[in-house]
Amino acid sequence: MTGSGLSGYARSIRRVFRAHGRSPHGWRGTGDRNNPQIVNEQAHLRRFRRLTAAAAAATFLLTVVGGIVRVSDSGLGCGPAGSGAHGWPLCGGRLIPIVDTKMIVEYTHRFLAIVLTVLIAGIVWQAVRHLRAHQRLLDGAVVCVVLVLLQALLGGLTVEHGLEELLVAAHLAMAMLLLALLMTLTWLARPERGDGAATALPRGAVRLVAAGATLVLATIIAGGVVAGTEKRGTVDPGGGAHMACGKEFPTCNGGVLPFGSGELVDIQLVHRVLMLLAVVAVVWFVVVAVRDGVAGYWPALAGALLTTQVLLGALNVWLGMHPGLIVAHLALGTLLWAALIGAALALLPVPESRVVPARAAPVVA
Ligand code: HEM
Repeated sequence: MTGSGLSGYARSIRRVFRAHGRSPHGWRGTGDRNNPQIVNEQAHLRRFRRLTAAAAAATFLLTVVGGIVRVSDSGLGCGPAGSGAHGWPLCGGRLIPIVDTKMIVEYTHRFLAIVLTVLIAGIVWQAVRHLRAHQRLLDGAVVCVVLVLLQALLGGLTVEHGLEELLVAAHLAMAMLLLALLMTLTWLARPERGDGAATALPRGAVRLVAAGATLVLATIIAGGVVAGTEKRGTVDPGGGAHMACGKEFPTCNGGVLPFGSGELVDIQLVHRVLMLLAVVAVVWFVVVAVRDGVAGYWPALAGALLTTQVLLGALNVWLGMHPGLIVAHLALGTLLWAALIGAALALLPVPESRVVPARAAPVVA
């Protein structure tokens, strides 16, 4: 395009923005501040954003408390497997349990689940009532409801069926998806909006963060399977796939990757192999993002979390089963996933506003 062609293009962009009473830089123009429709929409977006951010925090807490429920053996604290409504939704046959600490731990988890459900109801209300013009926010709110319902169903099944490993892993996977969705909605509902101008996407970094996040999610799910086998195995009390390689890492029972030497060993090794692939992808992403100066502080945060998480994983093996280490490993794995979602969102262009102001200012030629 020639120089005059470029400036002509810039002039026509400015004209379009003036026609809508908006600054080409987003919300900051005086046109926006004086437009009650836009000011009102900004307030609704802010409220929606607060709700989604609070729900994301509640999801993180629920995941960690879920880990505490498991390591403190409170998963069935409200009633044994097969106890029907006595154990879920009631707890020990009561609405509010008062008897033992395991019940209280399990009930704390349920209380947080109720808080999350209320927050999600608020998100749906806010989207349907005030943000109908934002189709993506509406769709996201509906998917949140579906995920929470599935999560509650899985939670109930996990309690009913005695914490089977695939249910534990599915419950963990669903929590990660909900967390990612809530972070995405928080990002989408930013009151400051983009101008819709095409911004070059750092494609290399986007591909790497997508690969890193996918592999971390796979590692987390495989970790959930390891965790769900805790009652199996020969070590007292159980140990499951956690102890299947003894206290060896990076080796396993004297070998490097002795696949085929037992189901629990294989489960532990799948977690390790996925972790190795995730480490390669995330480190590669961090190097590229820092070199190109993209995604703000997220890549450095993801790098720091990854390093600590691998160390914590190794300590989980070297020191055997310690409840504190297991819960810390779960919490950090969740934070690492969140940091990669944050990095992915930071790479995307800010979405354009959908609001069409009621009264357009006259076009200045
Ligand atoms: C990218 C790095 C890693 C991520 C994201 C990750 C994630 C997870 C998650 C989410 C769990 C389930 C925790 C629970 O529900 O209690 C888990 C379990 C586990 N992970 Fe990792 N992990 C990573 C690296 C490692 C490493 C390097 C090791 C060392 C071998 C390791 C060993 C274990 C063990 C032994 C468990 C079972 C803990 C239990 O008994 O509950 N992890 N991992």
